[in-house]
Amino acid sequence: MKSVQIFFMSLCFLICLPVFGSEIPQYAEKMHMGVATCASGVCHGSIRPRSATNVLQNEFVTWSRLDPHSNAYNLLFNEDSKRIARNLGLSNAHEAALCLDCHADNVPSERRGPKFQLADGVGCESCHGGSEIYLSSHTDPNQSHAQNVEDGLYPTDDVLARANLCFSCHMGDQNKIASHEIMGAGHPRLSIELDTFTALEPPHYLVDSDYRKRKWDEDSVVVWAVGQLQAARQTVLLIEEHLNKSDDRFPELSLFDCHACHHPMSDIKWRQNKTVGLPPGSVRLNDAGLSMIFPMVEVLMPEESRSFAKLSRDLHLASSKTVGLARSLKDLSVFLDEFEEKLNLIPERSKDVMLEILKMGQEGKFRDYVAAEQAVMAVDLLLQANGTRGRSEVWLNELYATVENQDSYNPLAFQKAMRGTTGL
Ligand code: HEC
Ligand code: HEC
Ligand code: HEC
Ligand code: HEC
Repeated sequence: MKSVQIFFMSLCFLICLPVFGSEIPQYAEKMHMGVATCASGVCHGSIRPRSATNVLQNEFVTWSRLDPHSNAYNLLFNEDSKRIARNLGLSNAHEAALCLDCHADNVPSERRGPKFQLADGVGCESCHGGSEIYLSSHTDPNQSHAQNVEDGLYPTDDVLARANLCFSCHMGDQNKIASHEIMGAGHPRLSIELDTFTALEPPHYLVDSDYRKRKWDEDSVVVWAVGQLQAARQTVLLIEEHLNKSDDRFPELSLFDCHACHHPMSDIKWRQNKTVGLPPGSVRLNDAGLSMIFPMVEVLMPEESRSFAKLSRDLHLASSKTVGLARSLKDLSVFLDEFEEKLNLIPERSKDVMLEILKMGQEGKFRDYVAAEQAVMAVDLLLQANGTRGRSEVWLNELYATVENQDSYNPLAFQKAMRGTTGL
């Protein structure tokens, strides 16, 4: 019960966020002092975890050795990046704002302190916020977390805020997007699930008793569910901001399901999909961000499941014609706000949500690769949360195998693997 209450409290805090405006570190006003200011041995650069303070103090070592973010700038010099830059007509990738905005802490020059280095890639302050003010005060044991946040520390513990942060680069936001032009030049497709990616980063913090006291009892199901809510909102935002704003003749193609276009013509796989509702031969939006809302709505607000399906269908139809798109996006946003209010029930209903995802999978509802990929990550973490992952490992590996290669994804094989569940 306790985690539910804390979650609820944090939700209230989160709902208020847009009012207080915890801006993504890249856009907030504060000065970024550079990774070197965090990395001294007595601060966050200890070789081994320490126990003198509340935090591990070896965060820098974890980040620089294990976290791909520390390499995000350096990879702009590799052969793939050179090819992407060449294809786009850029003189190089490591000086192009187009790339730096996601591959480094690309704040304007007047917000870079003396030790700031672009070469640090996605460094501490890309996520934790410019340390101009909190740098000297956040070590004071009498200083509360809330005070630090007021001083510019980004609330990464707050799941909604964390989702906004991670998705700003891993999905794109109002200012930056991995466009189809960038993809066409050779950039990999982006996809993210918040809880899985939090675990993969890997974490440089420990959720122990003092962390729980200061923050919350981080619960992977809650991180997943809130991540899905924000992914849906980010999908709405990206469509609003980018679908028809380019000068090109075509709408922004990276917002559509890549595999709607990119598959061999001999591979006839079209089947009517009630949540999409488009005729054969249409280009479907990438609705990965909505795919996991369906099973949650089915469990948490079953009386609304038909209206959500209609909203999803309306969005697909509107995107293919562009008339009524603004209205459709607005209706969907209103629905997502209502959905948010039910999310506090997620911890106690997580098993039902898992069973619903399995049911949908067995009925063949995850026809598109992007939805299947989300379903597998969800099943994995929900099995873990419900204590039955160990028993299901063999089956889970089979399920992962069906989504391992996006180019050979076969919806029927996926459906069959979903039917193979045993002993849940
Ligand atoms: C909207 C943010 C965004 C933009 C813009 C962007 N990238 Fe990326 N890029 C990412 C993310 C996120 C990943 C990691 C994807 C993953 O593994 O899930 C990535 C991955 C890559 C990779 C593959 C890295 C690997 O480990 O294999 C290369 C290469 C790359 N980006 C180069 C570029 C270049 C060059 C540009 C500029 C033309 C650019 N990116 C623009 C966000 C972006
Ligand atoms: C990609 C984003 C990201 C980057 C980069 C990053 N962090 Fe974090 N950090 C997080 C998240 C998410 C958490 C966990 C949520 C929380 O407690 O705020 C966290 C937690 C922490 C904590 C634990 C706080 C506590 O209360 O126990 C410390 C300390 C920390 N980070 C320091 C650093 C330092 C130092 C660097 C750079 C060397 C760094 N982080 C880089 C995202 C990031
Ligand atoms: C400023 C942009 C930015 C932000 C913010 C950001 N990332 Fe990343 N992330 C990247 C880039 C760029 C890469 C690719 C780095 C590479 O391949 O070396 C990446 C890579 C990753 C990877 C490795 C992916 C893979 O395929 O192996 C994980 C996991 C990840 N990020 C998680 C997160 C999480 C969790 C957050 C939020 C707490 C976050 N990121 C915030 C830009 C960002
Ligand atoms: C509306 C259809 C459509 C959608 C949706 C679409 N693409 Fe494309 N894509 C194309 C076309 C057309 C080309 C140009 C093909 C050519 O030059 O032969 C292309 C080219 C590419 C190329 C370059 C291929 C080459 O041969 O050099 C890549 C990579 C690519 N797309 C990736 C993606 C990714 C990733 C997505 C999803 C985020 C996506 N595409 C979504 C139609 C689409």
